[in-house]
Amino acid sequence: MKKYSIVIAGGGSTFTPGIVLMLLDNLGRFPIRQIKFYDNDADRQEVVAKACGVMLKERAPEIAFSYTTDAERAFSDVDFCMAHIRVGKYAMRELDEKIPLKYGVVGQETCGPGGIAYGMRSIGGILKILDAMEKYSPNAWMLNYSNPAAIVAEATRRLRPDSRILNICDMPIDLMEKMANIAGLPSRKEMVVRYYGLNHFGWWSDIRDKDGNDLMPVIRRHMKEHGFSNAMSDSSQHIESSWNDTFLKARDVYALDPDTIPNTYLKYYLFPDYVVEHSNPQHTRANEVMENRERAVFSACRAVAEKGTAEGIGLEADVHASYIVDLAAAIGENTRERMLLIVPNEGAIENFDSEAMVEIPCILGKNGYEKIQMGKIPRFQKGLMEQQVAVEKLTVEAWIEGSYQKLWQALALSKTVPSARVARLILDDLVEANKEYWPALS
Ligand code: NAD
Ligand code: G6P
Ligand code: MN
Repeated sequence: MKKYSIVIAGGGSTFTPGIVLMLLDNLGRFPIRQIKFYDNDADRQEVVAKACGVMLKERAPEIAFSYTTDAERAFSDVDFCMAHIRVGKYAMRELDEKIPLKYGVVGQETCGPGGIAYGMRSIGGILKILDAMEKYSPNAWMLNYSNPAAIVAEATRRLRPDSRILNICDMPIDLMEKMANIAGLPSRKEMVVRYYGLNHFGWWSDIRDKDGNDLMPVIRRHMKEHGFSNAMSDSSQHIESSWNDTFLKARDVYALDPDTIPNTYLKYYLFPDYVVEHSNPQHTRANEVMENRERAVFSACRAVAEKGTAEGIGLEADVHASYIVDLAAAIGENTRERMLLIVPNEGAIENFDSEAMVEIPCILGKNGYEKIQMGKIPRFQKGLMEQQVAVEKLTVEAWIEGSYQKLWQALALSKTVPSARVARLILDDLVEANKEYWPALS
């Protein structure tokens, strides 16, 4: 069996230890000879790297391990780049969330003005990593979690159409674990689904068990009463009460179209007034993450390095890590697994923009992916998606052309923003806050 070499870009991410643990748990089916970390913040990365170095030494000392801020060292001799960078880190996420809220508009990491601002930061960072990977390891695959995945995917479709980058999201994965639990199945892997939409903007239209039995009726009954709440999943990520509110709110999102099961992110577009009323403009999700996940992961990493062992420290691998490792294994070992990816539509959704990046099921193997046809989608979903895909495309065009006008249009078109006037007020604050990260706009 071939042994793979992996670079994790965004080595200092809170999700890095989980991915390393998941790689270690899967060595039997996906053998590894080397793991490297790459980040542009050496100090942050070092904390995570020291802990992962201990974990690797304890469990698989034969795997070569190194970490660097040098692109040539990082991207030479690799088969996969697993990327999860956050350009501007939590400090900028906090501003993405708080600036729109000042104007009574949804403040969210990937949706609305915050997502647009984050997209304008991420594009350059992702292109740099993708180019380095293709220069030093031309046959490698980049598996990308970096957000906002919809905008990153559109940017790479436009600017690097031949690149081997696959963009993914863990939200449907956690929700499918919950739906499997609702249907009495041990895991999402026992389900075969049809799902269509944009990233953080999609719907399940069909869910069956492996014998073809329809699971939609039992899931619908649960959604009608509880949304995605009262359902179990092996996620250490979506656990705070703010996430539980989101899972419960899916009940109201579901009520709009009881024929399909919605992604939780649709609440930001369909109930923006509710979201704003339930937000604290002084304390947003970025603050919660810094107080909870970031603090927990970094203190656990420091403890592992200090004690020289990872045993009993509480770092764990969950569905987020399992999905990216499954994807790498599917390509490396040609498993032909069916997984959701964000890919160019090109007719997969028949009555939708062929040049849109859509999230749909695909079959994964050593030559990449094959898309599953989704046919025609209903008017409600299509209408919403037309508007949102235009927002994403205008954002990418604004980045490419340095166009203030197009970015204003993107904000004004977002369903989360009430008027072009408010769009402009928010945009001007975002321009000021993002001076270091965005291309100059005129
Ligand atoms: P984090 O801030 O803890 O980690 C991000 C790391 O990226 C940091 O160490 C930072 O220094 C590094 N970084 C920033 N800019 C960089 C650049 N240009 N080059 C190299 N490294 C750079 O963030 P996190 O909360 O762990 O999340 C990481 C990323 O994963 C985010 O983009 C987040 O949105 C994304 N994410 C995506 C999904 C999904 O469903 N697609 C799920 C979870 C997290
Ligand atoms: C889900 C989404 C990710 C997003 C994350 C935010 O997992 O799929 O795209 O980054 O939620 O979670 P957080 O805990 O950082 O708010
Ligand atoms: Mn996601």
